[in-house]
Amino acid sequence: MKNILVTGGAGFIGSNFINHILSKHDDYNIVNLDKLTYAGNLENLIPSQDNKNYKFIHSDITNTELVKFLFEKYELQYVINFAAESHVDRSILSSREFVTTNVLGTNILLDVARIFNVKKFLQISTDEVYGSLGKDGLFTEETPLSPNSLYSSSKASADMLALSNFKTYGLPVIITRCSNNYGPYQFPEKLIPLMIINSLNDKNLPVYGDGKNIRDWIYVLDHCRAIEMVFESGTNGEVYNVGASTEMENIEIIKLILKHLQKPESLIEYVKDRLGHDRRYAIDSSKIQNELGWSPNYSFEDAIIKTIDWYISNKDWWNRIINGEYMEYYQKQYKI
Ligand code: NAD
Ligand code: DAU
Repeated sequence: MKNILVTGGAGFIGSNFINHILSKHDDYNIVNLDKLTYAGNLENLIPSQDNKNYKFIHSDITNTELVKFLFEKYELQYVINFAAESHVDRSILSSREFVTTNVLGTNILLDVARIFNVKKFLQISTDEVYGSLGKDGLFTEETPLSPNSLYSSSKASADMLALSNFKTYGLPVIITRCSNNYGPYQFPEKLIPLMIINSLNDKNLPVYGDGKNIRDWIYVLDHCRAIEMVFESGTNGEVYNVGASTEMENIEIIKLILKHLQKPESLIEYVKDRLGHDRRYAIDSSKIQNELGWSPNYSFEDAIIKTIDWYISNKDWWNRIINGEYMEYYQKQYKI
């Protein structure tokens, strides 16, 4: 058995990852350590919650003693660190939680992982650590780190701590840096779910600036498969970029969502730009493709429709979130 500590597994990508990995591997034991911030939701894990190889722990990665206790109790050998404050707009309002969880929290996990001689420490990072691109070019693993937001600075700091642990102590660290994800269970503060839900509710769609900022989109399950492959066959001390070569202007996506939902473009509302707004992200993922044989399975055309349809079919999930009722709901449901 592989005993794996997954942190932040109740969030968007972590929950998709756990549901994916447990449906494929019965030799993986997953201990999911999640603080259940506003972004964590145990409902995302319904497909895994009764799996005998799954255990949920409601706590915080900054709690060193608890993390040590988990390593002992569950004989943990591997770490996959998804836990983070993940939303750029929130980091503009206050960076405190970003530094606490993303930097200090990662540092604590690295320290404990060293004490227990883990076999692998996979740090889930982001392409935002590379900063912003002009019209041309792609981020490669060699692109210098140049984060602009408080969020991406905290993630870049965590990456450096992780790589320093590899260089200094030989801790078997690997980093993935993925582009923008979309798919089921994404918290409705992020562009795609926010625009789908506002459209369904006939509310305005706030477009920052001129709407021409570019992101490189990937369906969350393609990201999860990439993490799985890096976890199984990646080389220690290396960074792997993950992306599906799907550059889109924000406004293009918003218009596509409106069209699919047969809603008018008059719902679009141009608003004040995000402070420090990165213009363009685009990923070169040839390293993971050539070295590990990963490639995306989902096209944007199909997966965005699949995603819109998921939000149409799961109104209870997001209504509980936007009405602020979900904490109470799953406190009753899960007795936490
Ligand atoms: P998310 O905000 O949906 O989920 C984060 C999870 O971490 C939540 O369940 C939250 O409760 C948990 N958490 C937060 N602070 C914690 C703490 N101190 N202790 C334990 N748990 C804590 O985020 P996401 O979009 O699923 O992103 C997951 C990871 O992937 C992050 O590290 C993020 O930087 C990275 N990433 C995200 C994207 C994207 O497009 N969403 C792309 C590339 C990389
Ligand atoms: O690139 C990977 C990153 O993608 C991850 O590391 C982050 O965790 C994740 O949040 C995401 O960051 P972005 O800032 O790119 O994602 P967001 O969904 O917040 O915004 C996408 C684009 O849409 C961005 O250009 C800002 C714009 N936007 C966003 C919102 C929420 C709007 O125009 N209006 C909005 O209301």
